[in-house]
Amino acid sequence: MIRGPRLLLLGKQGAGKGTQASLLAEHYGVTHLATGEVLRAAARSGTRFGLEAKRYMDEGELVPDDITVGVVEERFGDNGELEHGFVLDGFPRTAAQAEELARILGEHDLDLVVALEVPTEVVLDRLAGRRVCKDCGAIYHVSAPPEHPWDCDVCGGEVVQRDDDQEDAIKRRLELYEQETQPLIAYYRAQAVLVDIDGVGETEVVFSRLVDAVDGKYERRAGAPA
Ligand code: AP5
Repeated sequence: MIRGPRLLLLGKQGAGKGTQASLLAEHYGVTHLATGEVLRAAARSGTRFGLEAKRYMDEGELVPDDITVGVVEERFGDNGELEHGFVLDGFPRTAAQAEELARILGEHDLDLVVALEVPTEVVLDRLAGRRVCKDCGAIYHVSAPPEHPWDCDVCGGEVVQRDDDQEDAIKRRLELYEQETQPLIAYYRAQAVLVDIDGVGETEVVFSRLVDAVDGKYERRAGAPA
């Protein structure tokens, strides 16, 4: 059986990582692992680690590594994603997390890391208008609402503004992106696994750029042992 691709999306807040990761996961039949969404779900269900993570998230701060690395390790530990492929979104965000990811992946190298490029003025507009489903995390925008505002098209849940989509938290998240996450672009470029993709344009147009990039790179590697 040919396995699905192992993909990682990088990009600043509001670049469209969650939106595109979900489409890519459906297209390639692989799992979408979004650490932010896993943490928000844990917070909603009121687990101790979820509530602790929420304190950091609401301030726009990074959640401590012992929690985020644990989330990724647990997910990759027993569900077969390493073999079957995945789209990872939101992890790693620091050099230390990138080292942890390399350890967790072992011999299952990433096929492609995408740097989704979107100017800051565009992401600020996207974040101000973003709305998400409280139950399943599906992503909308005030300019592209669900069919019956504001009931989620996917699960019927309530679609609301994220608690961290507030001015101060957005500013802090973008600062942390510049300081901690952007350097990972050079890290993965040095491993010759990174492509830059223009993230501006209609969602479907950005998606087709991504599929072209993934197919171009992944098909060359698909014959290789997983
Ligand atoms: P996370 O949930 O990952 O949020 P983020 O990094 O802030 O990224 P965003 O979700 O804001 O942006 P996105 O690029 O996914 O954009 P989206 O597709 O939604 O993390 C949240 C928090 O969790 C962090 O701040 C941190 O506290 C914690 N956390 C998570 N992982 C962690 C880690 N590894 N270490 C430590 N802490 C961690 O799109 C945005 C909007 O734009 C939407 O409304 C969408 O509809 C719209 N849109 C998308 N594409 C287009 C397009 N092409 N044209 C027009 N509109 C578009």
